[in-house]
Amino acid sequence: MTLLELADVRAFYGRVQVLEGVSLTVPDGGAVGILGANGAGKTTTLRAVSGTVRSTGTIRFDGKELRGLRPDQVAALGIAHVPEGRGTLSDLTVRENLRVGAYRRKDAKGIRTDIDYCLDLFPQLQDRVRSAGSALSGGEQQMLAIARAIMSKPRLLLLDEASLGLAPSTAKAVYQAIGRLRSESGIAMVVVEQNANLAFTLVDSAIVLETGRSVLTGSTAELKGMDEIRRAYLGG
Ligand SMILES: Nc1ncnc2c1ncn2[C@@H]1O[C@H](COP(=O)(O)OP(=O)(O)O)[C@@H](O)[C@H]1O
Ligand SMILES: [Mg+2]
Repeated sequence: MTLLELADVRAFYGRVQVLEGVSLTVPDGGAVGILGANGAGKTTTLRAVSGTVRSTGTIRFDGKELRGLRPDQVAALGIAHVPEGRGTLSDLTVRENLRVGAYRRKDAKGIRTDIDYCLDLFPQLQDRVRSAGSALSGGEQQMLAIARAIMSKPRLLLLDEASLGLAPSTAKAVYQAIGRLRSESGIAMVVVEQNANLAFTLVDSAIVLETGRSVLTGSTAELKGMDEIRRAYLGG
């Protein structure tokens, strides 16, 4: 079953059009990557889904048109956006950040179970539960941003450059945890990454964006085999 479908999506900042026709399909439980150079429109594509940029075209989630909905309405349908730059709350502790992620939920027991799950998924956060967000390292902040998204119990996770600015070993640990989350939870994912090697450890398929347009779509195996992808994104 298709969970998320984008067809010919265009997006605008004011009068400036930055997406010129993006199409993408995410099966329920699937993970799809978005690759592309800086400025290609990866972040804007995620923002079109979460309702934070004006768009045209079709953006359907679980059969329902998302365009025209406010960001909070999109989130309430089960879409969690982990933005570029993380956006954790620096004055709150790790535990408080996780509770904020669960603010729509009423199931106190489920919330406690999920906090424990997040701390098991990201053991580094376990030692930091009482630390302020601002005291965390970049890697820990990224883990917290993902954990906070998990706390909303989403059906779809939008991840924007989760590896950006992290040491390679930390980035790898973050992706391993996301991979574990994927296999244990069945949450579907749209994964924006500049680091295609990392993205390909997680996603089943990907699209390539160039100046606001999807120019290539394929399974991970197909894309890895393409010379142009190897040259542009895989360092070989
Ligand atoms: N808030 C904004 N206002 C105007 N233009 C923007 C804004 N954000 C991004 N852009 C432009 O939109 C294009 C796509 O940006 P973005 O989606 O952030 O690309 P990516 O995430 O692939 O690096 C770029 O040309 C960028 O300069
Ligand atoms: Mg971006």
